This record gives sequence, C-alpha cells and structure tokens, in this order.
Amino acid sequence: MLDKIKELKAEIEATKLENKEELEAFRLRFISRKSVIGDLMGEIRNVEADKRKEVGQSLNVLKNLATGKFKEVAEALEKSNSNINEGQPDLTLPDIPNQLGTIHPISQTRDKIVSIFQKIGFNVADGPEVEDDWHNFTALNFPPNHPAREMQDTFFVEKNPDMLLRTHTSNVQIRMMETQKPPLRSIMPGRVFRNEAISARAHCIFHQIEGLYINENVSFQDLKNTLYYFAKEMFGPDTKIRLRPSYFPFTEPSAEMDIYWGLKTEADRKITKGTGWLEILGCGMVDPNVLANCGIDPERYTGFAFGMGIERITMLKHKIEDIRLFFENDTRFLRQFQTIS
Ligand code: PHE
Repeated sequence: MLDKIKELKAEIEATKLENKEELEAFRLRFISRKSVIGDLMGEIRNVEADKRKEVGQSLNVLKNLATGKFKEVAEALEKSNSNINEGQPDLTLPDIPNQLGTIHPISQTRDKIVSIFQKIGFNVADGPEVEDDWHNFTALNFPPNHPAREMQDTFFVEKNPDMLLRTHTSNVQIRMMETQKPPLRSIMPGRVFRNEAISARAHCIFHQIEGLYINENVSFQDLKNTLYYFAKEMFGPDTKIRLRPSYFPFTEPSAEMDIYWGLKTEADRKITKGTGWLEILGCGMVDPNVLANCGIDPERYTGFAFGMGIERITMLKHKIEDIRLFFENDTRFLRQFQTIS
C-alpha cells in the first residue's frame, strides 16, 4: 500500500492543471469520495495493525497534497476568469495619453508683448469693457458728432446710449490719468468691440494692447526708441521700422508704425500690398487736451501713447489667414500653438 501511495504522490505532482475540465477530472480522481485516495482510506482497516499508523499518516499527507493543489489551481482559474468578466483594466494595452490644453495663441502673443514692455518698466493695467462715452470718446478729444467717432463702429447699450462696448483700449489711458499722478508708465491689454461685418480680415470682437507713458520731458524720440526696441524684441533683432504720419483725435502728432516684412514670396507681396511694409500699430504724443481733460497739467507733462491689435500681430507671426479661427475654439487649430515662438 505504501508503494501505491508513492505512485499516486508522483502522479499528483506531475499532473498539469490548466483549465476547468482538467481540474474537475483531478477532483474526481483524487478528491471525491469515490476517488483513488478515498478507496485507499477505506482499505486502511485491512492493513496490519503495526503498519496502520504509518500508512494512515502517509495517506493523510497524500490527501492534503491533492486538496492543496486543487484549491490553489481553482483559485488561480477563478481570478483569471473574473479579470475578463468584470472588465478590469487590461494592463497590456497602451496607455491613454494625458491631453493637456494649450495656451490660446492670442494669450501667448499678449503675454509676450506684455513681458517685452515689463522689461523696460511698464506695469500692467486693466479697465472696463462696458464703458461710458466720456472714457471711450469725449475725454479722448473726440468732439460730439465729430466724424472721427464714425471711424469706429460702436455697439451702444440700447437702454442707455451713454454706455457702449469700448471700441479700443484707449479708455484705460483716461482711467489711469484720472486716478494716478505722473509719472505713468503702463501697458493695457484688453478686449474691444466694433460693429463690423465678420470676415476673414475683421471681427466684431478682438484684442488690443495700449501703451502710455506720461512724465516731464517725454519726447517723440522716446516714443520712437521704445517702439523700435519693441519691434526688435517681437520680430527679431534685424527688424526695420518706419513711422508714417497719421491721425487720431487723442494724439498730436500721430503716426502709424510699419515693420519691413520683405518681398521674398508671393504671399509677402500680397500681405504688404507690394510695398514690403506692414502696418503694426498706431501711436503719437498725447494731445494736451487729453491731459487737461484728466487733470494733468499739459504745461508740465508730456507723454506718448500707442495701440496695437493682438490678432493682427498673431496672424502675421504664425501666417494665419482667417481671424475667425481665434474665436471658434477648434482644438485642432489651437493645439498647434504649444509654445511661444
Ligand atoms: N486707439 C487707436 C485704435 O484703436 C490706436 C491708438 C492708441 C492710436 C494709442 C494712438 C495712440 O486704432
């Protein structure tokens, strides 16, 4: 009988159990009441008395071996089954990339322009988008009914025609000058509104950055140097600029600044209208009337101001041909602007 037990032990150890069917066959052969081990248990009483203890112990070891193996495999099979059944994550699949958002190209350009001016001592100021006539027009030297008001198609608040959506960020100049004493040196980014037909070139909402410097002895030369510094920081150290005379009610003299873009490609010819030059911003010396409107003595102080469109500069820098793309929130467009270039 001990030989038989040895034989079965070897058999149990050699049996491979890889699925439910094999496991059930194993159970029937070694564990159930009518199994080979069960039969041997029944035969113990026929063993000679002096060997009975030894045989009994060996049989128990054999039985434990069989049930131990059965349990182990049953649990392992159960586990691998429940993995599939309960939809637990399949760790062999490639991971889902974590999609980070990107900073909007308009914000990137704004941040870049702001940081260029911060480096030379400009601080950042903010003002309201819903504004009154005084801050958007009158204090800026737009006479009542003057055609200059028509230059900027205005959205008025229906119930109160004195209130409007600001047409430029120049309203913040007035708010700064009314509440603070010179010297003033501020950069003022913000959203502006004009009642224009929406097209690839124009939108009824866009963004500007305004600059203002008021102090004693501020000259046109200071304006020019500041803008030249800005152009080189923004468009590269070899950038050329030119100032052309222009008109704004709140500056005198007024100018528009162009940068030299070049005429290398057909596209360059198109956007510069064959001249190679591109208009970037409006600027000028703050009109003495504006200083006086804000309680600043024009005999003592002078200053310069400038304003530029953020969309336009972003479109030039990235060769974007349709301004509407900035407002559509199409992530395929936005995702292309990972970093400031
Ligand atoms: N506010 C002017 C515009 O919107 C730009 C400008 C700002 C011009 C400051 C001169 C000085 O066109």
